[in-house]
Amino acid sequence: MWLSKHIPTVAFAAIQVAVLGCSGCKVSAPGKMETGFMRAAKHKAFVGNKEARNPKPPTPATIKDGKEAFGHYCTVCHGLDGQATGVPFASRMSPPVPSLTSEDVQSYTDGQLQWIIENGIAPSGMPASKGILNNDEMWSIVVFLRHLPPAGSLGEPKFYSQ
Ligand code: HEC
Repeated sequence: MWLSKHIPTVAFAAIQVAVLGCSGCKVSAPGKMETGFMRAAKHKAFVGNKEARNPKPPTPATIKDGKEAFGHYCTVCHGLDGQATGVPFASRMSPPVPSLTSEDVQSYTDGQLQWIIENGIAPSGMPASKGILNNDEMWSIVVFLRHLPPAGSLGEPKFYSQ
């Protein structure tokens, strides 16, 4: 299957990003105001697609599809639960991998979350999924992001414990 062949590549890329991310460790952390400014800028201006409606209904079937696609493409960095459980480098990435249950992330509209998945957040480690995930998968993932399970409840991604 395409996925099983590519998962090691994705994991490797993630680890590379984690290591490269450390060049940022030398740079002093941005001040609180700057971070607040960046957050506001991201929410208001940079991240597009604010008004788009999610075409997928929030049914158990969609949540299951979203969970499955998330499991293939996002867990290397975000963990199975979207809260980076068991991802060894999550806090060392620059910026760190955020918990997707955080208010900051949940306050995006569905359309903005789909935009983030499609386009990624340059120049951070959050990759674009354009051409990798189809629209259906992206919108299902957005539904899953609204129904994330409690932190740690799904265990850790297998590839880090093997
Ligand atoms: C290679 C690691 C990696 C992968 C794979 C990855 N992400 Fe991320 N993600 C990150 C990092 C790092 C951030 C923090 C980016 C920032 O704050 O600028 C992030 C941030 C996010 C955010 C919040 C953005 C914000 O502005 O706060 C969402 C939502 C997200 N990711 C969803 C996903 C989904 C869904 C997938 C799978 C389709 C995915 N990510 C795959 C590393 C990754």
